[in-house]
Amino acid sequence: MDLEEQSQRGRFITLEGAEGVGKSTLLPVVLQTLRDFNIEVCCTREPGGTPLGEQLREVLLGTEESMSAKAELLLMFASRAQHIESVIEPALASGTWVLCDRFTDASFAYQGGGRQMGAEKIAVLESWVQEGLQPDLTLLLDASRATSVERTQRRRALDRIESEGDEFFERVRQAYLDRAAQDSNRMVVIDANPDFETVCETMRAELLPRMERWVNLAATISH
Ligand code: TMP
Repeated sequence: MDLEEQSQRGRFITLEGAEGVGKSTLLPVVLQTLRDFNIEVCCTREPGGTPLGEQLREVLLGTEESMSAKAELLLMFASRAQHIESVIEPALASGTWVLCDRFTDASFAYQGGGRQMGAEKIAVLESWVQEGLQPDLTLLLDASRATSVERTQRRRALDRIESEGDEFFERVRQAYLDRAAQDSNRMVVIDANPDFETVCETMRAELLPRMERWVNLAATISH
């Protein structure tokens, strides 16, 4: 892909974090921050984002049968394969930006860290399913387990994965942080412990300079 084709593609931004970090509350704020640049944005999620993916999500989060960790990982990637092929790639190719609520970093964190499957097999699936596709930016919300638990308690009944214990979620958090340390250009860690307004400010301080750079770059190349 040459520079001009590259500049006409949309950007791919993902939002990540363990349960209770405030991801659902922050997502609309991130979306609005992007739309304020008059950019067309497709907002989607994983697992899910397509009719088949949403069916897989119901199975993944709702099934009462004990699920093997391998089955869980493969279903996450089945949903992702469908999502990439029918939503994410076509959107990016047409110049639409994609904001995705979770992507492959969640597999490294939940299945790799939480389920202790390690990163090696996940990296094989990542490379096979994504064929080089990676987010341009990942905002990782990070909060202490105590903060997350307090926020989760205010919620509806917990699903199959949310019902895991503290040790599982400590491993999820650590796996996210390890991955962010390995790929610090792409992944930005946002301290999600403070109040909502402070977290929004931190998020904007990270996002706005990048947005300005990308939007200006696209305008310069296409003129
Ligand atoms: P959500 O409720 O934040 O949308 O996330 C759905 C759940 O799925 C959440 O518990 C994290 C989990 N998940 C994984 O375990 N692996 C993955 O690859 C993805 C995308 C989500």
